[in-house]
Amino acid sequence: MDYNAFYQRLEATPLTPWLQTLPRRVNRALLESPHGDWPRWQEILRRLPPLKPSSVDLNVGAVRIGDSGDCDAGARQVLEQLLRQLHPWRKGPYRVFGIPIHTEWRSDWKWERLCRHIQPLRDRLVLDVGCGNGYHCWRMAGAGAKLVVGIDPYLLFVAQFQALHRYMDHPNVQVLPLGIEDIPKDLEGFDTVFSMGVLYHRRSPMDHLLELKSCLRRGSELILETLVIEGGPRESLVPPGRYAKMRNVWFLPSCSTLESWLKRCGFADVRLVNECRTTTEEQRSTDWMTFESLPDYLDPKNPHLTVEGLPAPRRAIFLATKP
Ligand SMILES: C[S@@+](CC[C@H](N)C(=O)[O-])C[C@H]1O[C@@H](n2cnc3c(N)ncnc32)[C@H](O)[C@@H]1O
Repeated sequence: MDYNAFYQRLEATPLTPWLQTLPRRVNRALLESPHGDWPRWQEILRRLPPLKPSSVDLNVGAVRIGDSGDCDAGARQVLEQLLRQLHPWRKGPYRVFGIPIHTEWRSDWKWERLCRHIQPLRDRLVLDVGCGNGYHCWRMAGAGAKLVVGIDPYLLFVAQFQALHRYMDHPNVQVLPLGIEDIPKDLEGFDTVFSMGVLYHRRSPMDHLLELKSCLRRGSELILETLVIEGGPRESLVPPGRYAKMRNVWFLPSCSTLESWLKRCGFADVRLVNECRTTTEEQRSTDWMTFESLPDYLDPKNPHLTVEGLPAPRRAIFLATKP
């Protein structure tokens, strides 16, 4: 992946100061200590057939790149085999030259829950923290964002993004192999910042909220989506061990607690725009993600509990402004 064109795009924006550290951090992630499978994933990317999509649609649930008529059956078979080797596909769905990628998550449902509530993304500089393979980044670009920067430290998801970006060739969207800790503390350059599905993975939720705040310019918007529990003020759950079989889950606040955390961290105009229980229609195993999924994480006798006997996954979406 050649990031130079992307770095040049940053030059004309308030994010310019980031260029002092960004290329070094990206190189470190990709060259100095990459995941052991990174060479294999790169080989898959090299073997992708050269195809040109006749059209792209970023404003549909299954993000569409090209049509089946844009390639012959042989090329489509090669493409599908290669994309399947980038298993597991968690975030989506996509439709690539007629190949439906049925991902573990119906990420389009999350987008539908939030898109009508947020400040319009047109002409904005947008950061998507923990973006996975970049599904929501494409939707943000479809909503008119000037530049969308996704960050995710897991290189398989970066490779999946690169596979799709190869055909999309969209200069306004990039997914970088970085964590939130790689972003300079005082950047204050983004017009909208998304953190979705990340807060509960952080050992220190306040620090995460403050890190997000430091990415935003004054007057701009945070969209925070995370796991919550039902409960009142000051209540939160710290699972004693695993939560829904995940090892790295730390804080699940009630909505009221999360609202107070956001206010305590200096956000204004804090509001809850959606809260719902995650269903086994939204998160499930598919032939593009054959590992266990939500149905395996729930108590078979009581779907309101996880297999550990904790409250089943429930998610909330908050909006807040950096004053
Ligand atoms: C549950 S997924 C959420 C993906 C997507 N945002 C969504 O809502 O569907 C959490 C993502 O956060 C990423 N992640 C983990 N640690 C991170 C960090 N320190 N900074 C940024 N992203 C991180 C993971 O690799 C994973 O892709």
